[in-house]
Amino acid sequence: MIDFKNKISEEIAKVTQLEVKEIESYIEMPPNEEMGDYSFPCFRLAKTLKKAPQVIAQELKEQINVDESLIEKVEVMNAYINFFVNPKALTETVLTEVTEKKEKFGSSNIGEGKNIVIDYSSPNIAKPFHIGHLRSTVIGSALYKIYSFLGYNCIGINHLGDYGTQFGKLIEGYKRWGTEYNIEENPIDELTKIYVRINNLCKEDESVLDACRDNFKKLEDGDTYCVEIWKKFRELSLKEFQRIYDLLDVKFDSLNGEAFYSDKMQEVVELLEKSGKLIESEGARVIDLEDKQMPPCLIEKTNGSTTYATRDLAAILYRVRTYNFDKALYVTSYEQILHFKQIFEVSKLLGIDEKYTENLVHIPFGMVQLKTGKMSTREGNIIKLEDLLNESISRVKEIIETKNPELEDKDEVAKIIGIGAVIFNDLYNSRIKDEIFDWDEMLNFNGETGPYLQYIYVRTNSLINKAGYVPEIKNVDLKLLQDKASIKVLKCLYNFGDIIKQSADKYEPYIIARYLIDLSQAFSSFYNENKIIGEKQEIQDARLLLTYAVGIVLKSGAKLLGIKMPNKM
Ligand code: ARG
Repeated sequence: MIDFKNKISEEIAKVTQLEVKEIESYIEMPPNEEMGDYSFPCFRLAKTLKKAPQVIAQELKEQINVDESLIEKVEVMNAYINFFVNPKALTETVLTEVTEKKEKFGSSNIGEGKNIVIDYSSPNIAKPFHIGHLRSTVIGSALYKIYSFLGYNCIGINHLGDYGTQFGKLIEGYKRWGTEYNIEENPIDELTKIYVRINNLCKEDESVLDACRDNFKKLEDGDTYCVEIWKKFRELSLKEFQRIYDLLDVKFDSLNGEAFYSDKMQEVVELLEKSGKLIESEGARVIDLEDKQMPPCLIEKTNGSTTYATRDLAAILYRVRTYNFDKALYVTSYEQILHFKQIFEVSKLLGIDEKYTENLVHIPFGMVQLKTGKMSTREGNIIKLEDLLNESISRVKEIIETKNPELEDKDEVAKIIGIGAVIFNDLYNSRIKDEIFDWDEMLNFNGETGPYLQYIYVRTNSLINKAGYVPEIKNVDLKLLQDKASIKVLKCLYNFGDIIKQSADKYEPYIIARYLIDLSQAFSSFYNENKIIGEKQEIQDARLLLTYAVGIVLKSGAKLLGIKMPNKM
């Protein structure tokens, strides 16, 4: 595809002292059409050239000599030089590229040979999979798909919370009352009940607490009975989590959770000892981080047992050695910002190369706020995620029953739309913002929602089906797509690849989500203004080709977010 920004930059480079790459980084996309498609601000040149930026803009404009078949017009506005892309060149390059590459349009190989580890979802065994884990799952999985599309080799890790002293308690509870609870049927609920009960007993009776500690110690030492029960808890919980992953269609390359590191923490402790920074503090061992304005990082508790942080440090070592990563990402709520700051700092004491410790990235996200009253909850405030996803599906099913009862594959379509709505709602805002969970809003087919995207996609699809063919680009007169609405759609399509890169650079899937809404809205205006089927053949062909291209990009963009498209709805 023609890289307009690069072409412009090359021309500017010829008449200034600047490098093409540098110019590219200065070029902006103006906020409105009157200012052109690309804009070069001249402020930076003022210092070296010792002239007013407006004067520089005027002078440069006279010297720049861009090919008119690419850039149709160059104008100066204050200190900016504005460039207007030639619509014919735009149309041709976009449609050629989309029809050639199809679902690969927008992909790239900038990540070739680079490994990215993504730690996401990571729920805790025997505890409810809560809505924060949903966010981690959805954001992490989107990043996985986005980076893969850019050619990176991604390794998705579900760092399960399957270790820690609470398992000593659970084992004790299970020993005492295991037969009273149906953990096979309903593992998380039942194990949670056992946990609450044993916790209460521990508060009353110190000796029970000792027994729990003893169980955990035994578990660490590989005691057959304890390990067996622990395994059972883990398997049953995973089976329950798997139902959620199936609904969301999320996958992992590794399920190495915290327990996996149980035999790998000794090395961490030794390395930290060697660094001379591991100090005693009130019976525990910590790394002091006062000079980094952080509380100390707890490595070993008073009773000698290790911590969440120690396991994460062992995981860093392991991931360095196993995956030789260029980047390691961790997707959790912002509540863990301090934890990751601490372990990233401490990781510098493990004797691994800076290229690893500098590329550990925490990707925090905001909390989910529920619009009260409408959410069906079970016990107290814990919302069961599976219920929530199923509720979304059944709400969509109801809508379909009233609006389009004849639809084929109603159940499958309801699932695609219901799940898509939840995922889109999760990804539509900058991740650090708290998310509002409001059924009416996220299921509004005319809003900025998943169902809206799917609806527009279905429209492109049904237009193609109605026509019964996709025109071949060599037979299409591209001059017929030069009206405002068509050009707007084409410009949007042109930007897809750039949008994906931005989204990856900032770890922000919402950039793609917003883009898809923009594209849908642009297509919707195009569709409202232009008759497609039943026009003169050549006009129909041109508009149909554009429609086809929009469908492709909507579908592959949605796929990057983990959202599927129905063929009909
Ligand atoms: N299990 C943790 C939780 O539920 C999240 C783990 C995130 N990953 C990590 N490597 N610490 O809060």
